[in-house]
Order: sequence, then structure tokens, then C-alpha cells
Amino acid sequence: MANVAVIGAQWGDEGKGKVVDWLASRAEIVVRFQGGHNAGHTLVVGNQTYKLSLLPSGLVRGKLGIIGNGVVVDPEALLAEIARVEAQGLRVTPENLRIAENVTLILPLHGAIDRAREAARGARQIGTTGRGIGPAYEDKVARRAIRLADLAEPETVVAKLDELLLHHNTLLAGLGAPVFEKQALFDALMALAPKVLPFAEPVWERLDQARRDGTRILFEGAQAVMLDVDHGTYPFVTSSNTVAATAAAGSGLGPAAVGFVLGIAKAYSTRVGAGPFPTELTDATGQLLGDRGHEFGTVTGRRRRCGWFDAVLVRQAVKVGGIQGIALTKLDVLDGLPELRICTGYRIGGELFRRLPAAPGAQAAAVPEYEVMEGWSGSTQGARSWAELPAQAVKYVRRIEELTEAPVTLLSTSPERDDTILVRDPFEG
Ligand code: IMP
Repeated sequence: MANVAVIGAQWGDEGKGKVVDWLASRAEIVVRFQGGHNAGHTLVVGNQTYKLSLLPSGLVRGKLGIIGNGVVVDPEALLAEIARVEAQGLRVTPENLRIAENVTLILPLHGAIDRAREAARGARQIGTTGRGIGPAYEDKVARRAIRLADLAEPETVVAKLDELLLHHNTLLAGLGAPVFEKQALFDALMALAPKVLPFAEPVWERLDQARRDGTRILFEGAQAVMLDVDHGTYPFVTSSNTVAATAAAGSGLGPAAVGFVLGIAKAYSTRVGAGPFPTELTDATGQLLGDRGHEFGTVTGRRRRCGWFDAVLVRQAVKVGGIQGIALTKLDVLDGLPELRICTGYRIGGELFRRLPAAPGAQAAAVPEYEVMEGWSGSTQGARSWAELPAQAVKYVRRIEELTEAPVTLLSTSPERDDTILVRDPFEG
């Protein structure tokens, strides 16, 4: 029996919510280990639709949710999200939610900096969610961040606010944005303290115990490998490491605890925000994929860019992300297309690449080489066995396995949780 880590293998929004929800029902503990409330997971349980950004998905299945130290937590956003799900009938208390005491906090000034910097970038915008994720991680590595446990020590908060404001107010003033006042920030944090501190604990101890007891742990990744701050399409990335290795460091466990790594990939590609997207389709087919796939961001509401499946990128994500099996989602969106394309390489300045190079100029210049496949006329929607799939759809999946060098261990054929073909149980390792 293994623990399981779920990560996105493309640019996010691969349908992790459904897969994580499906796996969460078979785990005891669900851990978020990176990112913040920039993520968006939609879960449909009975007649309720939960939209989660920061809370671990397992909470809606009655599991223990843990927010690990690798996450950045906006306490106001956390309390608002708790209030939202409580209005839907779910109870969130320190009984079912624990937060690492050493987690970094997102303050209102981080969102302000994020948005002011984006505005100043003009045409070179990254398209961030504007929620302060990047600035909070910057403060963490700069060793001036306020962490959850600090809220129990007002004098620590005061000292850190001095350092934070010296840095950020200078920048905000330079950008022509309103600056922050220390007393107001301090008062707001002290008002939040009694509401969030009851959730704080050294989660590494609890997780270590769980690991030794053989309790099943599910590590819930946010964003995806191509948005990883090191391995993604830098600088058009998020500010955390999204690869599976982060599940260990981001929750306070050793690498052996992570277990099986499941990468989620859509049967085509999408991306929100700016940045290179070699297989992007700006024609009617791209429009069709977006319409059929309901490709609108959960957090931003922005329409997602759509394109063909990029086997070069997913293969790269498999390697750097440590992915051992792929959960392929939204195959049904391709139903009825006469012809499909899979990217198998890039032409850059006359040279053929089987990987995406790191330099932004080369990434922007990458022209995809496609393998063309015949589509299928039947429906894959709701299929629960390989036998129910059109032969050509099976061929498409098999080709994805060959090109990405990873087995498809799970195939999701509709938004319904049970419309899933399981090839291999990830918890069996
Ligand atoms: P940030 O994470 O808000 O700094 O945004 C950086 C980039 O990551 C932008 O292109 C966002 O659109 C993208 N991004 C962040 N979170 C998600 C997500 O959950 N799904 C898809 N894209 C995301």
C-alpha cells in the first residue's frame, strides 16, 4: 500500500478536482503542499457543488485535511472559504483541518503588490491571479515573512511588519499605488489570530505518525508541472515548485513517504494566463474545444486558451515531475472530431527538439511537429471500460502512452466521479 501524490502534468485545470475527490474517498488524510488560493478545484458531491481554493479536497469526504508548510495561506481568504463551505453544510473545525504552524501567510499588501506589478508590466504581463502568491513566496525566501505561529507573538509580528513595510511600501510608492499602514495591518492580524491559531500545529509530527501507522495519505498538488517555478515555462509560471518532490518538503516528510505519483493530463491542452503554448489553436477547433470542455478558469473566470495534446511537454512533465502514471481526462471533448493531432517535437530555427528548451526566445519560437490521427465517430462519454470505447479512441490513448513514456493508469470519461476507467489502483503502488 502506498501514499499517492496527484499533480498536474500540463498548465493546470486538468480536472484534478474530480480525480483527487475520487482518490480522497479512499485515503484518510489529504494534504495540500504548495500554492495557495490561486488554485481552483470544483467538486460535485450529491446536489452540492463545492468550489475550493485553499482547503484540501478531502474535507468534503469527511477526511482530515492538512495544509502543509509549503502552502502560502491568506488567513482572510481561508476564513471566507470556510464560511462559504459551512453555508453549504460542511463543518470545518480543528478536528478536520490542521495547518502547519510554520506556514507562510499572505497579507493584503501581497495582493496589492501582485496587482500593481502586473499593471506596470503592461504588454509583458504574466496573467497572475492577483492573489499575492508570488510576493508571499518572495518574502518567504527573503526571510521576512510572517508565519502562522508568529501570530501568537505580537512582538514578532511588530518587528516583521517593520521590515515588510520598509520593503513593500517603497515599492508600492514607486509604482504609484497606495501604501500600507503598520497599525492597521497589525490590528487586522491580531483580530485574525484567535480565529486561525486553533488550526495550527506541527503537522510533520502527525504526518510522521500517520506514515508509521500505514494511514493512507493523499498529497493534493495545485497548478501543474509547466507552471513550476523551475521546470515550467519561466517566467510565465507560478511561484512554487509543483513537482511531486515538493509533496515531501512542503508537508514535512521525507521523499520516500510520497508514494505513487499520478499526473493528471487532459486529452488536449489548455492554459490560462500568458506565456508560450506551442500547440495553441486560435481557430474554430480551438473555439470548439473551449466550448465543449467548458474551459473557463475556476478562480479567474477567464477563458482558457486551447490546443492539441502536446506529448513533448507531457513527457517532459513526466520526467521532471516524477510521474509514474497518467490520469487522462476529458477524452469525450474530442468525440466526433474527424482528425486529431499530437505534438511530437518542435522545430526551432531549423533544428528539431524533443523537449522544450529553457530560453524564452526558443520557447516562443517553437513550431510544433504533429502526428495526425484519425478521430472517432462514436462517443466515449461515460465509458467505464475499455470495451465501451471506440477503437480509434483506444489507439489515441495508447499513442499518448508511447509518446509520453508513461502508462495511462486512469481514464476519466465525464465530469461524473464514477465515469472512470481504472487500469491500476494508485494506492496499490
Ligand atoms: P499566480 O500563481 O497567481 O502567481 O499566477 C501565475 C500563473 O499561474 C498565471 O499564468 C496563472 O494563470 C497561473 N495559475 C495559477 N494558479 C493556477 C491554477 O490553479 N490553474 C491554472 N493556472 C493557474
